[in-house]
Amino acid sequence: MNTRTEWFEEARFGMFIHWGVYSSIARGEWVRSIERISNADYQPYVESFQPKAFDACKLAKLAKNAGMKYAVFTAKHHDGYCLFDSNYTSYSSMHYCQRDFVKEYIEAFRKEGIRIGLYYSLIDWHHPDFPHYGDRNHPERDNEAYKDYQYTFSDYLAYMHGQIRELCSNYGKIDILWTDYSYDDLKAEAWHGTELVRMIRSLQSDIILNNRLEASGEGFGSLITSHPNITSGDFVSPEQIIPPEGILNEKGEHVPWEACITMNRNWGYFKEDHDYKPYSLIIHKLVECVSKNGNMILNIGPDGDGNVPEEAIAILKDIGRWMKINGESVYGCGYSGISKPENGRITAKKNTYYYHIFEPDVGAIPLYGIQKEQIDEIRLLYNDKIIDVSETWITKNYPDVVFADLGPSPVLPDPVDTVIKVTFKGD
Ligand code: GLC
Repeated sequence: MNTRTEWFEEARFGMFIHWGVYSSIARGEWVRSIERISNADYQPYVESFQPKAFDACKLAKLAKNAGMKYAVFTAKHHDGYCLFDSNYTSYSSMHYCQRDFVKEYIEAFRKEGIRIGLYYSLIDWHHPDFPHYGDRNHPERDNEAYKDYQYTFSDYLAYMHGQIRELCSNYGKIDILWTDYSYDDLKAEAWHGTELVRMIRSLQSDIILNNRLEASGEGFGSLITSHPNITSGDFVSPEQIIPPEGILNEKGEHVPWEACITMNRNWGYFKEDHDYKPYSLIIHKLVECVSKNGNMILNIGPDGDGNVPEEAIAILKDIGRWMKINGESVYGCGYSGISKPENGRITAKKNTYYYHIFEPDVGAIPLYGIQKEQIDEIRLLYNDKIIDVSETWITKNYPDVVFADLGPSPVLPDPVDTVIKVTFKGD
């Protein structure tokens, strides 16, 4: 087990930011592929993408106030447009907007003490040497005009390696590189993965990598086998799902993982998508990730002008309110060793268990899996009040369960998740 991921597993909660030219079309970041938009037809959007409202400082504050400890920003998505200054292309915000958005992002987030991650798409629908016809996703995948199109994949690899070198060289310390993604034969050594990872680690010795240089969202890659290799990355990246049992390798050992989750249904801004998850669900799912030794990275998709949708801002504020009171039950916490209780979840660190109560009860709240004699103190994070163990003729019938006496009201102080902190004697 490497120590690189220690801070990451302590942090537990991050912000994903999907943003680029596609945001101005407002139908998600896959719009070019889904609607088979050619480079030529995409070009007017590239030229008119002049996001006046993009304010990295505002985003950084939003993340910080929501209790997020790290962020990952799309330096380049599948459309190939670069939000940074690159010597390898003029297909960039530097060229078209005279702004290096990656730089703005990094400076702003660093200032707020948030760890820096960059998303870089291995896939590139703009580069002439990336597979076109017959590829699984390319906008020209079934355009007969590209059937005999000649391309030199090694030129694409030189470009991709060169850009990753720039990202790892020009902005100081980068904490996470989130490459996306491998599929079919395009994985690991097809990307010249060993060489790439050696280069990345020589420039950024502490950087952590996701598993997608080898894996798609569909597979986990070798990180979960007994023999991970240099391209396997440091953490697994389940997408839009929380793995039922967390993630263990073949030897049964814990593997760091991060569930990437959208707030509505899309990563990139999608105007018609108002299907936002209620903040209560997001809190429950964050707690679920932590209770299974995992992280959650929650996405925002600013619009083409750079504005974050109001719905997303409101959700982040609600999350922040809860995190401010209950953050200690998330940061640095993990699996408790006790299976999921019926009234919520448990997160744990050192000699402390946090019982997350999602369901109100008719009386005292059962805290499963612990003995009264082990307990030093029980507190309610909501108001920091000490809580008594309920010992009445009713609870005495259940000697194996500790009951927390929250008082006569059946209403939980926080109806979304009331956290009861149990500290044990000794370690
Ligand atoms: C997928 C998608 C992509 C998104 C990513 C986030 O692989 O291709 O659009 O950026 O997942 O996890």
